[in-house]
Amino acid sequence: MKTVSFSQMKDGTAEDYALLHELEKDHVSGTAKRLLRELASQEEETIAGYKVTRLDHALQSATRAYREGADVDWIVCALLHDIGDGLAPQNHDRFAAEILRPFVREECAWTVEHHGLFQTHYYGHFYGWDRNARDEHKDHPYYQACVDFCERWDQSCFDPDYKAEPLSFFEDMVAEVFSRKPYEADIIKEGVASGLPMLQAAE
Ligand SMILES: [Fe+2]
Ligand SMILES: [Fe+2]
Repeated sequence: MKTVSFSQMKDGTAEDYALLHELEKDHVSGTAKRLLRELASQEEETIAGYKVTRLDHALQSATRAYREGADVDWIVCALLHDIGDGLAPQNHDRFAAEILRPFVREECAWTVEHHGLFQTHYYGHFYGWDRNARDEHKDHPYYQACVDFCERWDQSCFDPDYKAEPLSFFEDMVAEVFSRKPYEADIIKEGVASGLPMLQAAE
């Protein structure tokens, strides 16, 4: 592959930067593939102490979202919400949110960004923390979506017996979301709180 002439960026020429600009397009278009590869690699990683792998948790979350009639933004956010837990365990929620933010509804990215704090509702009291720390956001338009996301598609997704869809089931959805034009107003829908789909009453 053709490469640049420089060893330090400050010595680069117009030709060098034209070449990089072209190659960058291929790189950006490969994001979905790289994310799926990363998720697939998480099949090996049991979450310490839990009964499922990181991939199991992601698939369960996305499958529950899909089966409850969520749109593709929610499904892909569910699938990727913990993707950075191995690399950024202290702020994995924000890590994932930054990956998703240019391509999904603002409500969904906000939910991913805050899910770590909202999840503490289920266990914070066992560590002497305020399990209602999420209340600091209770007037936020996306508060309820984040509460519901954690209840329905996160805290519930550590079940070794749940029959989730395989990763291949979600490939086209990930490709669709990451092929969108970044930060498009029609996609981001700034300030619009739609919430999660209503749950159907059990028959
Ligand atoms: Fe998480
Ligand atoms: Fe999670």
